[in-house]
Amino acid sequence: MTQTNQAAWLRKEKTKLEVGPAEIGKPGRGQILIKNKAVAINPVDWKMQDGHLFPINEPKVMGNDVAGEIVEVGEDVSDFAKGQRVLAHVLGLVTGKAEEGGFQNFSIAHTIGVCPIPDNMSFEEASVLPLAISTATQGLFAKDYLALPKPSHDVEESGKTLLVWGASSSVGAAAVQLAVAAGLKVIATASKRNFDFCKDLGASQVFDYNSPGIVGDLTAALQKHDVAGAYDAISTRDTQLNTSQVLAQLGGGKMATVLPASDEIPSTVTAKSVYAVHILTQDKQLGQAIWHGFLPDALKSGQIRALPKPEVVGHGVEHIQAGLDKNREGVSAVKVVVTL
Ligand SMILES: NC(=O)c1ccc[n+]([C@@H]2O[C@H](COP(=O)([O-])OP(=O)(O)OC[C@H]3O[C@@H](n4cnc5c(N)ncnc54)[C@H](OP(=O)(O)O)[C@@H]3O)[C@@H](O)[C@H]2O)c1
Repeated sequence: MTQTNQAAWLRKEKTKLEVGPAEIGKPGRGQILIKNKAVAINPVDWKMQDGHLFPINEPKVMGNDVAGEIVEVGEDVSDFAKGQRVLAHVLGLVTGKAEEGGFQNFSIAHTIGVCPIPDNMSFEEASVLPLAISTATQGLFAKDYLALPKPSHDVEESGKTLLVWGASSSVGAAAVQLAVAAGLKVIATASKRNFDFCKDLGASQVFDYNSPGIVGDLTAALQKHDVAGAYDAISTRDTQLNTSQVLAQLGGGKMATVLPASDEIPSTVTAKSVYAVHILTQDKQLGQAIWHGFLPDALKSGQIRALPKPEVVGHGVEHIQAGLDKNREGVSAVKVVVTL
């Protein structure tokens, strides 16, 4: 049977996605072709649509997070096979190639950012993870960032503590889980309603970021610990200033940010912003270590779970625009997902 592919195209910034036919890519070396069953929405998608990132000069297929079944593998690919259920961080955002975008029925993925889905995990659940895992990984483990010990299946306590600001976000939830798997204690911030969510991720203490005394409270709590640094998973001006003030009051340190680092950070604090795709395109050793060396068994054993939970807003590529609108409005400890 001949397969056809429909994509949700962004033809220009500040226009709605339009569903239309798209070519099905042919996997090259180190690539696979996935028939997507679920795709997740990320803030970068609506930021691109709203024209916050760069002008759109040609039609684009956005989307970073997919989960589905492999339908074809590149000729040199031996570690993945046709029919396998996988989740993938696809790279259309950086390669600019439409066939590598996520918002369509079939996507090409580079195997470095692909991981098998365990039998007890649904496609919807699996789709919440990819970009968040890559984003958390770079900030936590890359040598120019926090350079924490790598996560392991036999966790050895490192004796160190990490501050994660915004632990109920997708990136924050991945950062907490990976840091705990790396033997760190985590002190986190979230809204009160998400305290239990963060503790379930593995945070040992959670503080309400809406509290006026948050900087003092975190400083007092962290003073009792050997602090490895901070991961600001939100990185607005306010969160960067608060996070860096905590570190400064502790004598300084390093923080990873998910948006460009503010130039108002105190001089005793080094802030560096993450670009998630780097672990798949530049720092490939780290990408391999996490995506292939750690994640498959960590998902199987439940050490890393598909959190925050997916909230499915529709079935079919025509629902992806509604997903973008929902994420743009703001979410709390959920990931917006469209099934295909
Ligand atoms: N640099 C990169 O490569 C990269 C990659 C991925 C994402 N990002 C960026 O990372 C950011 C987060 O993305 P995401 O998908 O993880 O977001 P998300 O899941 O959509 O974020 C929603 C969460 O943010 C929390 N939040 C909002 N304001 C907060 C604040 N002031 N302090 C603490 N928590 C706050 C909310 O917590 P409560 O509900 O508990 O209040 C909510 O659970 C976005 O700006 C995104 O563009 C960057």
